[in-house]
Amino acid sequence: MARNKFDVDETLETPFQAKHLKRTFDYIKRHGAKMLLALILSSLASVSSMYIPKVTQQVLDDVVPNKNLTLLWQLALLFIGIVIISIIFTVIRSRIMAHVSQEIIYDIRKDLFAHLQRLPFSYYDSRPAGKILVRVINYVNSVSDILSNGIINIILEIINLVFIVIFMYTTNARLATIVVAGLPFFLAFIIYIKPRQRKAWQAQSNKNSNYNAYLAESIDGVKVSQYFTRQEVNKSIMQRLATACRTVWMRAIRISNTVWLTSETITQIVFTMLYIAGVYWMTGGEMVSFGVILAMGQYVGRFWQPITNLANIYNNFVNNLAYLERIFETMDEPVTVDDAPDAATLPEIDGRVDFDNVTFAYEEGINILEKMNLHVKAGESIALVGPTGAGKSTIVNLLCRFYNINNGSICVYDNDGNSYDISKVTLHSLRTQMGIMLQESFIFSGTLLDNIRYGRLDASEEDVVKAAKVVRADAFIREMPDGYKTTVNERGNRLSQGQKQLVSFARTLLSDPRILILDEATSSIDTKTERLLQEGLNALLKGRTSFIIAHRLSTIKNCDRILYISNKGIAEMGSHDELMEKKGLYYEMYTAQAREQGLEV
Ligand SMILES: Nc1ncnc2c1ncn2[C@@H]1O[C@H](COP(=O)(O)OP(=O)(O)O)[C@@H](O)[C@H]1O
Ligand SMILES: [Mg+2]
Repeated sequence: MARNKFDVDETLETPFQAKHLKRTFDYIKRHGAKMLLALILSSLASVSSMYIPKVTQQVLDDVVPNKNLTLLWQLALLFIGIVIISIIFTVIRSRIMAHVSQEIIYDIRKDLFAHLQRLPFSYYDSRPAGKILVRVINYVNSVSDILSNGIINIILEIINLVFIVIFMYTTNARLATIVVAGLPFFLAFIIYIKPRQRKAWQAQSNKNSNYNAYLAESIDGVKVSQYFTRQEVNKSIMQRLATACRTVWMRAIRISNTVWLTSETITQIVFTMLYIAGVYWMTGGEMVSFGVILAMGQYVGRFWQPITNLANIYNNFVNNLAYLERIFETMDEPVTVDDAPDAATLPEIDGRVDFDNVTFAYEEGINILEKMNLHVKAGESIALVGPTGAGKSTIVNLLCRFYNINNGSICVYDNDGNSYDISKVTLHSLRTQMGIMLQESFIFSGTLLDNIRYGRLDASEEDVVKAAKVVRADAFIREMPDGYKTTVNERGNRLSQGQKQLVSFARTLLSDPRILILDEATSSIDTKTERLLQEGLNALLKGRTSFIIAHRLSTIKNCDRILYISNKGIAEMGSHDELMEKKGLYYEMYTAQAREQGLEV
């Protein structure tokens, strides 16, 4: 899989397609009724305001020459009425639309998040977290306005245009034609500028995303940066990314501004032409009154305003299209590790596991495991040892189906001895029967109680305490200011590394799994605590299958079977005594470690 990092622009795999329009529409149509109401109110307000130039015309052509004061009062009242209606309707519309746009944000966020939760490890392996975050946060905010107000405004401006054209032509057809004549020039310009604009906004979204990725990474790694006093280097990387953002942003804005500039220029030219032609025809004795020319002058503004607005909305739309593409791309990201269409629910398993000819690669062509075979009896404790990077974590990740294997099969068994291929059962029924403690113990923000209960929300407080006692976490938790109710923040900054491991250990145990997987679960725990923990654990492990990866070999010495992983598979296998007798790889590793610790072998 292609990997992306903060200084590499993402390539767009699926540019905007027609099907995206339908999808966009799906988000909007749920709010159809409200949007329609907003649209009706707005169009009433705007159509009624079109009478204002007519009022001016009547004042000039009727009230002034005939000194008709009654008509003046009537027109004044009409004028005030129109203004009040416009204001009230506009306020109501803004309220409705603010609501709709928040609902759209909510819907898209919900769908995106739900999808992100299902995406396999491989998705997260291949891109920076910051680039995922920016999609869910900034892009969604940004597109919601164009989807709600943008759509209404487009319709509204078109209605405005139609009415203006009618009003203009009923006022004076020849002058109206002059006003409309600027339109083809403007359209030609839009067609010319559009692709440039789109590219510019796409570049902007890429650079922005890079910047975000680096920001997220820097916050995550801030401690390491400070140990290595990398501040200056990091600052210059940040400056480079920020400068790139600014440059592309300025370019995009420059291009977008030409749209406004062009429409303004055309408006001014049309204005001039209108007055010249109007005055020319009037002095030539044609049926053009002074009032008509002034009214038409006001219509010019009102004709070109919606066109400029449409161009701006279009601008905005092009800009946001780049975001919408990213959002849909994320939603379309295939859930490669998912329930098969006919996935069965795995019944209670007995703990037996078979790996048959398992071949696996994270990246095409680089096999981590090749034709690996392993047959584990129910209740057996299996230790995985071997050099770093040999594939120990990979094996247990495959058993939980965090990745799909490329070849071979992994099977588990129910209490009646029926076999189930793990790729053909639901992920839920598989993973709830496995207790996994990953190498990095992650602590979520919340209380310690919440953290231990994370995988079994219905567990009682007693259950939690019991699990904590087994792993020897109870003592230190009780010493914390609020005991089990002590709040820790994300990543558990209040806890030592070893304490974090104990908490996540308790979390794993609480889920009461048939198969227990401990990946370097005790690496940060002192030997004394570990020994105590081991005692509690031994009782618990009885009858359960366990896979234990440990760096400290003394902890796995008593496992039923030890596998030495190296060279894309199992290099040695046997009990501690058997492997020691064999004097092979395990023997070497064990004696080296024992020597380091000054122990007799
Ligand atoms: N997410 C990943 N993407 C690509 N390669 C990976 C990934 N995780 C591990 N690897 C590679 O797979 C090999 C085995 O890794 P792992 O199973 O974590 O080793 P360990 O035995 O130390 O637990 C290593 O060479 C590592 O570089
Ligand atoms: Mg590992």
